[in-house]
Amino acid sequence: MISAFTFAAMPRLIAGPGTIGRLGKLAAPFGRNALLVTGSKALERSGHLSPILEDLKSEGMHVFRYRIAGEPSPVMVDQAVSDFKRKAVDVVLAVGGGSVLDAGKAIAAMLKENGSVVDFLEGVGNRTPSGQSVPVVAVPTTSGTGSEATKNAVISRVGSGGFKKSLRHDNYIPRLAILDPTLCTSAPASVTAACGMDALTQLIESYVSTHASPLTDIMAIDGMRYLIPELPDACGKGASDLGCRGAVAYGAFLSGVTLANAGLGVVHGVAGPLGGLLSIPHGVACANLLPFAVRATVDNLSGINTAPSNAAIDKFARIGRLFGAKPDNRLGGCLHLVDCLYQWLDQLDIPRLGRFGLTAAHVDFLVRAASNKNNPWPLSDSQIGQMIQDRC
Ligand SMILES: [Fe+2]
Repeated sequence: MISAFTFAAMPRLIAGPGTIGRLGKLAAPFGRNALLVTGSKALERSGHLSPILEDLKSEGMHVFRYRIAGEPSPVMVDQAVSDFKRKAVDVVLAVGGGSVLDAGKAIAAMLKENGSVVDFLEGVGNRTPSGQSVPVVAVPTTSGTGSEATKNAVISRVGSGGFKKSLRHDNYIPRLAILDPTLCTSAPASVTAACGMDALTQLIESYVSTHASPLTDIMAIDGMRYLIPELPDACGKGASDLGCRGAVAYGAFLSGVTLANAGLGVVHGVAGPLGGLLSIPHGVACANLLPFAVRATVDNLSGINTAPSNAAIDKFARIGRLFGAKPDNRLGGCLHLVDCLYQWLDQLDIPRLGRFGLTAAHVDFLVRAASNKNNPWPLSDSQIGQMIQDRC
């Protein structure tokens, strides 16, 4: 029997090598005034910025530019809204990594609200977003957060009293996503690895989530089927291979769809407060925490004998088979998955969390701030503490 579930809208998707060349024609129907949100330098350096600007100009569009450096903060979003509120922006074109896409979505939404973005952040502000937004076209140049398919924008303030929280509304799903692997080939190996591990974590956590549905299951498995065999190559000899980059981009897109509809688990429940405390790339945080989280979750699930726990173990074992586990041993498949995730930390050269300043002194605070989200079985405080401590 299929349990009750809902499935939110998806963006219109245009995928494949060279599809960025259609941006102008696809964006023009939204209106003449475009706000192009990008990172600080990467798009110029990759050589993709000039053709994009020429394409938009040839369609008669007037382009305003806004560059962001690093993860979007409330100050950054509020400044952009102040700069462009009177410019009658018809469409926001966010071209860049996950931070750029989140910034573009937040700016597009806040152009239709009054007040600071902080007022509307979950768990921080006390106002509810109206859901009005300037239309957003999302063009990822890295493959990780899946922000091109989600209904939230993550906004961070790092340090004492810091947070990493979402601005969220069903209407914030971008109207159009363009997945062109040619845009991803210039991402450095370290960025590709961290972003790819974020996408993999999102696929795994949404697949085993207590809110998973048959529809998110099939998408999460398909995302992993493409991403797992290609991610190591995308970080190395396949960095310029469009097939390899396209597979990882497709997996990341699906991770956004599945997380928006099934939710996430304890890794993201810790990565959130961790990202508010220290300046750690989100994907690096996820990659470090994921192996321990899978192992502890499987340990907890295998101690009980219920239909939901057995179904979750079956799912972990199925992921293990995508990493090459033999199909004959369910728990063996789960342990193979854990081993492979630890091996990938070395293979993909993921730095430990201690490199970013995490110490044992932070553990108690993070345990108190952490959440299990929709993990198939909750981890105890001591398991969460151990998970963090192990990667200091
Ligand atoms: Fe994530």
